[in-house]
Amino acid sequence: MALSDAQSCVPQHIAIIMDGNGRWAKKRGLPRTAGHSAGAEAFRRIANYCRTLGVKYLTVYAFSTENWKRSEAEVSGIMRLLASYLKEALRDMEKNHVRFRFFGDLSRLSPKLQKMCLDAQERSSEYHEVQVNFCLNYGGRDEIIRAIRAYANDVAEGRKQADDLDETVFEEYLDSAGVPDPELVIRPSGEMRLSNFLPWQTVYSEFVFMDVLWPDFGPAELDEAIAEFRRRNRRFGGA
Ligand code: IPE
Ligand code: IPE
Ligand code: MG
Repeated sequence: MALSDAQSCVPQHIAIIMDGNGRWAKKRGLPRTAGHSAGAEAFRRIANYCRTLGVKYLTVYAFSTENWKRSEAEVSGIMRLLASYLKEALRDMEKNHVRFRFFGDLSRLSPKLQKMCLDAQERSSEYHEVQVNFCLNYGGRDEIIRAIRAYANDVAEGRKQADDLDETVFEEYLDSAGVPDPELVIRPSGEMRLSNFLPWQTVYSEFVFMDVLWPDFGPAELDEAIAEFRRRNRRFGGA
């Protein structure tokens, strides 16, 4: 079978800010939670498509440290959806050998949700199809602060020296330890900002901003983003 243009050269790590669920629902006169449901479906589609394309890592921004500022009703709707979604994702994960990892501070989630996340992470740790890094109560600044704190504790307890800290050592303390940086970051919904997503890991990523709302994002949109990525001239500071 001939490979499509997008398939012939895919980034190994794609990161997506899954934005635009609320506007998608509003356009249809539906509650915001309906947008989040549709967004969960879009995620499932894209995770499957990434597997087909041979993408090794897919990192998705599902809930930020700032998203707690939303109404109680919306936050609890999202949390309920996550619980039911994760249950299904666990089943898919076993079937498709998808590895799940969670980035973010899970301690603020309900004990039930925390347990589901940890179970998924553990049960899939040996899988080698696409690895999904699910960012939940994730904030880039929070991730960096947690890493600094963990390193400082290791210094205080004599396991590390302050002067030994360099970029490689620091990366081991981040949620993304062991995961290569994303080559491509996609933000649908027309917004052109990072909103606290992976600030350490994206210093050399290519950014593709698209007008489509996340629930409408499908394989064709991912192909388009990858095609745009391939047109970029990546220099990494070189001439
Ligand atoms: C992204 O969609 C999902 C979350 C942040 C949880 P939004 O809910 O931000 O949708 P818009 O930006 O209001 O359209
Ligand atoms: C970023 O989207 C967070 C997620 C998609 C989970 P937001 O909708 O929260 O970002 P802002 O508020 O527009 O910057
Ligand atoms: Mg938004």
